[in-house]
Amino acid sequence: MLRSIATAVVLSAGLASAQATGIAVTDLVGTWSSKSNSTLTGPGFYDPANEKFTEPKHPGISYSFTADGHFEESYYRAIANPNNPKCPKGIIQWQHGSFIKVDNGSLVLTPIAVDGRQLYSDPCTYKTAVYTRYNASELFERYEVLTDGYSNRTRLNLYKFDGSPMMPLYLAYSPPEMLPTTTLNPLTTSTPGGAKATSKVKRADLPLNHNAFDTRTPGKIRADRWWWFGVFMTASGAVLYLFF
Ligand SMILES: *[C@@H]1O[C@H](CO)[C@@H](O)[C@H](O)[C@H]1NC(C)=O
Ligand SMILES: *[C@@H]1O[C@H](CO)[C@@H](O)[C@H](O)[C@H]1NC(C)=O
Ligand SMILES: *[C@@H]1O[C@H](CO)[C@@H](O)[C@H](O)[C@H]1NC(C)=O
Ligand SMILES: *[C@@H]1O[C@H](CO)[C@@H](O)[C@H](O)[C@H]1NC(C)=O
Repeated sequence: MLRSIATAVVLSAGLASAQATGIAVTDLVGTWSSKSNSTLTGPGFYDPANEKFTEPKHPGISYSFTADGHFEESYYRAIANPNNPKCPKGIIQWQHGSFIKVDNGSLVLTPIAVDGRQLYSDPCTYKTAVYTRYNASELFERYEVLTDGYSNRTRLNLYKFDGSPMMPLYLAYSPPEMLPTTTLNPLTTSTPGGAKATSKVKRADLPLNHNAFDTRTPGKIRADRWWWFGVFMTASGAVLYLFF
């Protein structure tokens, strides 16, 4: 779905990184993926050097956790459009950072704000897919790791901040398959002496998505249309970089 879309919008924004310290949670360690097992964390999903996503075969989500408190997540979702079935939207999100398990059993995920990325595709409304930063803290009220009685696979149930269950995740890899857990942020890495950049994306910062498409923490979210208004207003003076 997103393959046909050739360009992405790159804008300017100054951002600071945020990191928290984590504690060991051994039962969570590994890469977990939803049933189709085709969306996974790691370099096969997001390539930071080239600022490129590889579209998985099927929609799904994946989380990885390390014993020393790092996490990574990949989301690929198609959003059906009941009013116009020919116009499905697609969204790819990736972020990583640190997590802690709170005394009360909740998990608090704090992404490295400058590293998260989102590719949003709405081909009937926008000619190009829109590539932005993505930063959304997450709170899971609780989780459980068990053996799925039907498939005999190790299964992770995550419960959202409001107690509703996420789709079940199954252990795909242990140890986890992840990108480096340190800050990546390749877009702001300069190439001294004008060295040829490996990426087609030149040195630039991306705008930040203000949690416009998803609610992962309690509280108000910004309405979709206001965010887009902001993007396109800012985009008038911006550069379009070619992808793929
Ligand atoms: C990242 O998102 C969280 C909420 O999800 C917010 O508290 C934090 O300030 C954001 N960080 C940046 C640098 O925008
Ligand atoms: C557990 O503590 C965290 C952090 O203080 C809080 O945000 C969360 O709502 C609490 N979870 C439950 C289930 O009370
Ligand atoms: C389930 O998996 C365990 C360990 O991986 C194995 O020992 C057991 O035989 C499996 N059971 C079934 C019904 O496949
Ligand atoms: C999930 O996919 C990965 C990568 O293709 C594979 O190594 C793994 O065995 C799969 N796991 C299951 C349970 O199908």
